[in-house]
Amino acid sequence: MAEQGRSHRSSEWYAGTDRNSYIHRAWMRRGLPEDAFDGRPHVAIANTASDLTPCNSHLDEVMESVKAGIWEAGGVPLDLPVVSLGETQVRPTAMLWRNMAAMSTEEMIRANPIDGVVLLGGCDKTIPSLMMAAASVDLPAVVVPGGPMKTGTFQGVALGCGTDVWRLSEEVRAGTLSEKEFLKSEGSMISSKGHCNTMGTASTMELVTEALGMIIPGLAGTPAVDARLLQNSHETGRLIVELIEADRRPSSFLTRGSFQNAIVALAAIGGSTNAVVHLLAIAGRLGIPLTLDDFDTIGSGVPLLVNLQPAGRYLMDDFHRAGGLLSVLREVKDLLDPNALTVTGKPLVDYLDDARIWDNEVISVRETPLIPDAGIAVLRGNLAPGGAIIKPAAASPELLHHRGQAVVFDSIEDMHARIDDPELEVTADSVLVLRGCGPKGYPGMPEVANMPLPKKLLEQGVRDMVRICDGRMSGTAYGTVVLHVTPEAAAGGPLAIVQTGDWIELDVPKRRLTLDLTQDELNSRTPNQATLDGFAKPKRGWEKLYVDHVMGADTGADLDFLQGSSGDKVSRESH
Ligand code: FES
Ligand code: MG
Repeated sequence: MAEQGRSHRSSEWYAGTDRNSYIHRAWMRRGLPEDAFDGRPHVAIANTASDLTPCNSHLDEVMESVKAGIWEAGGVPLDLPVVSLGETQVRPTAMLWRNMAAMSTEEMIRANPIDGVVLLGGCDKTIPSLMMAAASVDLPAVVVPGGPMKTGTFQGVALGCGTDVWRLSEEVRAGTLSEKEFLKSEGSMISSKGHCNTMGTASTMELVTEALGMIIPGLAGTPAVDARLLQNSHETGRLIVELIEADRRPSSFLTRGSFQNAIVALAAIGGSTNAVVHLLAIAGRLGIPLTLDDFDTIGSGVPLLVNLQPAGRYLMDDFHRAGGLLSVLREVKDLLDPNALTVTGKPLVDYLDDARIWDNEVISVRETPLIPDAGIAVLRGNLAPGGAIIKPAAASPELLHHRGQAVVFDSIEDMHARIDDPELEVTADSVLVLRGCGPKGYPGMPEVANMPLPKKLLEQGVRDMVRICDGRMSGTAYGTVVLHVTPEAAAGGPLAIVQTGDWIELDVPKRRLTLDLTQDELNSRTPNQATLDGFAKPKRGWEKLYVDHVMGADTGADLDFLQGSSGDKVSRESH
């Protein structure tokens, strides 16, 4: 029987002598000592370990270290398996399920007798969905990122997962690599537990989440196979108990300044464009005003300091060896909000003074950046009234200002059917347009914006072209790709009425994306039937709920009714 001593949220379930508290305790005793219910913190470990999310399959081991720390600090750890999304596996795209994962995790955190939560994620959508959930419940929470895998090698050369799949498959299409050799590389691509080792979405989200303040500073980027991951997991277990005792909730320390720090980090590391939609969605859960334009205004003057694939050369274990995130942030300390706090209660900037860069090839000092102004450019114009983004660091400099004629595809299937057709009228100067790939249109906003180049152009040596799409791009991809065009075609955006042969001008320095049509011409056009046929029209289930309620990429592609917080209160008892 519980004593009414220390009082936490879980005491609403466990304290008392009535029938209901008896029921809650009895079913949870499972051999636990009686004082497990004396008011000590009960901590859920929201665990995205899954065999179908290979990047997270080691998180059960991580959880054991977290549990040890929680026990040691006087709490009770509880495994809470939550929806997990394997980026390379789930169809039609993991992004369709991010909000579902966030919603289900939010509700399970709230519904259960817990006082705080440790969030275990890794693969692309898992940390964002956990963060969105935790923000909306607003119980004390800390993230443990699963960390990147070690680098695999093929024929003596390091393989960047994701990035080198695109590169090698294009080499096959160009005829410079045999299919046999290509398939041989498959077994080397994923060489250990952990998430993708490029500066893709998983690495990016783990690093920006540390910059936000939600991870023990210095942990993000630790390779999955490194013992220091387990050490920090153990310490996170102790820390969450401390957070609960101090009632330190995400809303009490995540501020606009925290997001400023995340955006500076995103630019300095050359992170994935997917971080834009995820950070906007997380901010939306916290009620923190953050806009698409903030990514440009805060991020654009930030130097690119990290030489990692896909923009550069190295991989995540190199990054960790070279000093990691804190050594990068030390270089741009003046751009950070000095007041933004971390889970430890101390400001992020307090952790920077001891950080050092150990390898200048991987992490540059401020004076010699890889690119002086990195970040993400936000484009506007009559083709993207709500905004679109491009990552200049991953683009070809000569294409950043380009005028060309559109070659339009109505769907990903249409693109695949025609892109390699020798009869396709396309030149290196054409602008490839792909629509119907936004949140509503696909549905789920897949990573297809970096569409393959036409085979006949590849054979001529063309390696990049301007591409425009309302979908996303893999964080491991590269090219002069305009993505997240808003409003998307399926939501009535002008992208739906572009025709093959229209002139389009991309002007990144001026932040413009313009379709060469007068306003009258624009107004008089309507989407053709093939375009409309390309849009998803789900009848039931999650897809129906999603398409009816998903917002644009410019606000994070969350569901309209999931924005904001419901807090941790549950008003009614279960019996
Ligand atoms: Fe999981 Fe890349 S597929 S992180
Ligand atoms: Mg499990």
